[in-house]
Amino acid sequence: MIQISNLKKTFKLSKKQMIANGDKVNFKTAVNNISFQVNDNEIFGLLGPNGAGKTTTLRCLATLIEPTEGSINVNGFEGSSQGESVRRELAFLTNELKLDTHFTPEYTTRFFGRLHDMPENLIDERMKILFDYFGVTSFRHTKISDLSTGMKQKLSIVVSLIHDPNVIIFDEPTNGLDIITARAVTDYLQLLKDKGKTVIISTHMMHVAERLCDRIAIIMDGEIKAIGTIDEIYSLTGQDNLDDAFFKLYDNSGGGYNV
Ligand SMILES: Nc1ncnc2c1ncn2[C@@H]1O[C@H](COP(=O)(O)OP(=O)(O)O)[C@@H](O)[C@H]1O
Ligand SMILES: [Mg+2]
Repeated sequence: MIQISNLKKTFKLSKKQMIANGDKVNFKTAVNNISFQVNDNEIFGLLGPNGAGKTTTLRCLATLIEPTEGSINVNGFEGSSQGESVRRELAFLTNELKLDTHFTPEYTTRFFGRLHDMPENLIDERMKILFDYFGVTSFRHTKISDLSTGMKQKLSIVVSLIHDPNVIIFDEPTNGLDIITARAVTDYLQLLKDKGKTVIISTHMMHVAERLCDRIAIIMDGEIKAIGTIDEIYSLTGQDNLDDAFFKLYDNSGGGYNV
């Protein structure tokens, strides 16, 4: 189970960032007052446009960055005082994950398995299942520098799941994937949920949220504008699809259609 309470994250801006923003404000509040819970057996989605604060929220949750205010709890472990235990519970997938291009998928996956203190036979077993499932087997001995973006994304997914984590945090998991691999990923997330895992994803794609998530939070400009099941979001906004629900909330929060 995941619990995020009153999360706020403020970044200090460099001179260069201030100039890029065109003003003298030297900080950026990326997320403010974010609270939600994700249960076992559930897929929760953070849905929002670029810059809304999705990645920041997920990085705080994965204890990769420290919240400015608020707290994180993952399966009973506090983010602030038990970061290592939190990290052991979870998989964190982000498109910013850097794979070492000199190595092969097999070497890389084994390396991460060992980092998680997995015995070699268990690494072999998990690697076979995941490589077959995500179609990595055919290029398992190819240097990562020779892989396509989609292949690297598949490998990143396998690496993040090698230790069979209880909590899965996937930041924009279908980005850069072809339609078949994207479906394999969303099917696998369903499978994990059915096994009782806690799954949280971020996406800017309405259809991904609509198809995959049990509950979603719509996040804009660092704040949650609506939270609930897809049906609850529909009735809250008086719409019958997420596209229209999203724009209703966007309009209500002062946005314009042509931004
Ligand atoms: N390290 C950082 N320094 C300064 N600003 C940041 C940093 N990380 C994110 N931001 C800003 O915080 C806001 C939210 O970013 P992010 O969480 O990446 O959004 P999303 O993932 O929804 O696209 C954006 O305006 C972004 O520019
Ligand atoms: Mg992001």
